[in-house]
Amino acid sequence: MDPRIAAIRARTEYIKRIIPVASGKGGVGKSLVSTGLALALKEKGFKVGLMDMDFNGASDHIILGASVDEFPEEEKGVVPPEIHGLRFMSIVYYTQNNPTPLRGAEISNALIELLAITRWGDLDYLIIDTPPGMSDTFLDILRFLSRGEFLIVTTPSPLSYNVVDKLIALLKERNHKIVGIVENMKRGEVIKVTNPAAKYNIPVLVEIPVVNEIDEVIGDPGKLMHSVFGERMKSLCDKI
Ligand SMILES: Nc1ncnc2c1ncn2[C@@H]1O[C@H](COP(=O)(O)OP(=O)(O)O)[C@@H](O)[C@H]1O
Ligand SMILES: [Mg+2]
Repeated sequence: MDPRIAAIRARTEYIKRIIPVASGKGGVGKSLVSTGLALALKEKGFKVGLMDMDFNGASDHIILGASVDEFPEEEKGVVPPEIHGLRFMSIVYYTQNNPTPLRGAEISNALIELLAITRWGDLDYLIIDTPPGMSDTFLDILRFLSRGEFLIVTTPSPLSYNVVDKLIALLKERNHKIVGIVENMKRGEVIKVTNPAAKYNIPVLVEIPVVNEIDEVIGDPGKLMHSVFGERMKSLCDKI
């Protein structure tokens, strides 16, 4: 048995719910949903952790406007710095925004190590931004997220639905819980294309429209939470 499984179980013992945010594809809004949901839950008074596990595309720190110049404090593990009231951990603290020429297994090991050493303490929610698609890294970290209740993000495009369908099948095959689907970047009614939610009887928890001014609020969590996107994240809190 992999000793890191026991280490991660001990590190996450006092976390009530772990919500990995996954999508079939990159670019569908996983990072915005992860960060927005974490901020919305914190606004509601919950204790929330946010972990960015997208090794090559870490972006939650940019959405939060967080400086990642300093290493997190180490004391019997690493202590996640508090950013806008969230306990925040990202691989970017260690890669420092440099391109990191690591290969699949090395990336997986770095991420699993980070899960095994982070001292979250007691939390109501840990939101995890996962790597896109069903890459090797995603499959590797799945083994360590057996407690995860997955939130799936898709856009209303047949290209995204097709991959989401496969992602749901994979999660179900491995007996992972799925809390629901977020449909992001809606542009009015789409006819003829069906969200795989119906096929698997999974609820669509919230629909988010295309928010034209989204780029202006990235880096400013206060403004993000006042945007249409933030409003939808607040309504999502009551449904997960
Ligand atoms: N509802 C939305 N309206 C407009 N742009 C959006 C919306 N959601 C995400 N985006 C944009 O789409 C891009 C991808 O979002 P991101 O959260 O990085 O996706 P992922 O983490 O899945 O790759 C970003 O440029 C982001 O600003
Ligand atoms: Mg992302």
